[in-house]
Amino acid sequence: MVEAVRDRLRRPLRDLRISVLDRCNFRCPYCMPAELFTEDYRFVPRLHWLDFEEIERVVRLFTASGAIKIRITGGEPLLRPGLPSLIERLTALPGVEDLALTTNGVLLPRVAPALREAGLHRLTISLDSLDPVVFERMSGHRGKVSEVLAGIGAAEAAGFEHLKLNAVVQRGVNDHTILDLLDHFRHTGHIVRLIEFMDVGTRNDWDLSQVVSSREWIDRISERWALKPVAPAYPGEVASRYAYQDGGGEVGFISSVSQPFCGGCTRARLSCDGELFTCLFASRGTPLRSALRDGVSDAELLSLVHGTWRQRSDRYSEERGEATEGMEKVEMYRMGG
Ligand code: GTP
Ligand code: 5AD
Ligand code: SF4
Ligand code: SF4
Repeated sequence: MVEAVRDRLRRPLRDLRISVLDRCNFRCPYCMPAELFTEDYRFVPRLHWLDFEEIERVVRLFTASGAIKIRITGGEPLLRPGLPSLIERLTALPGVEDLALTTNGVLLPRVAPALREAGLHRLTISLDSLDPVVFERMSGHRGKVSEVLAGIGAAEAAGFEHLKLNAVVQRGVNDHTILDLLDHFRHTGHIVRLIEFMDVGTRNDWDLSQVVSSREWIDRISERWALKPVAPAYPGEVASRYAYQDGGGEVGFISSVSQPFCGGCTRARLSCDGELFTCLFASRGTPLRSALRDGVSDAELLSLVHGTWRQRSDRYSEERGEATEGMEKVEMYRMGG
């Protein structure tokens, strides 16, 4: 394995999350509230999108710096034209041990077979509720739960097993529908992960009272199905894993508010216009696009990436509180989830 570059807190660089597009066909109120992201909202112009060659070059630099996991995100990544050909390029790179993609699932009936053929290793699908009314509200009235279920079916038919299904939980919005969601996916081999609603960006009116802690979930779920903890699949795994004792499979909890996991954070994020961020809550990043387009050598780019990572000391979720109030933050749909 490549010796990874380390940050100021000695954390190695292991993951690169690449947002390939800042646009989305949904308007989830906790991410891109419809009243702010209207038809005339100015997203990153196409000319500024890193092209596939540029993304491949960045990924090579990252694998040479210790990254082994790559995740494609957005916005909605499946809206990026020709995405399977990017997947094909990236799976062919030595050093890319794991290539995953996060999607809202709606476009999967069209592209799941091509993603599979391109060699994509894993798929994660966001699904906040199975209740049609709740789901519709949480997608900003842009999506239907039946479409996401059709997407999940298409992914299964294309050969993706052990899907991860991410649900952001907001108290009073979808928490009353979560046990049904878990029940639906028990015994399917898929893993539902409950994500604590986070204060990402500055536009989602985040409030601690809307967060349902993982501790509370474990207690609520245990009243119905007995759970037992499962060891992490890799060091620094974001989700805490639990198994249903009756053999129904697994459920995961992502507790970035109640039990932050910055100590094991090995993740860098690249926006679709080539800005490199070292924290989900960053207020600024390191622009790579102009360097990529100005004929800068690999060695120079590598030193830019290493320099950025080496000076990193981010631990926002552990510091959350008065010190972080009013902080400028880049929006999640731009930086990638
Ligand atoms: P695998 O374990 O590789 O499957 O991926 P993952 O657990 O990193 O999962 P995924 O990329 O699906 O992340 C799920 C959610 O966890 C994201 O949408 C975020 O809400 C949250 N998350 C992921 N990484 C971070 C992080 O570095 N910091 C914080 N605060 N939240 C994160
Ligand atoms: N809090 C927690 N998770 C969020 N996501 C988007 N916004 C938030 C937030 N405020 C999640 C989505 C999706 C992934 C891309 O990020 O639900 O699963
Ligand atoms: Fe789109 Fe995902 Fe944001 Fe919802 S959370 S608006 S599906 S990028
Ligand atoms: Fe990493 Fe920042 Fe998330 Fe902490 S808050 S785990 S440093 S991305």
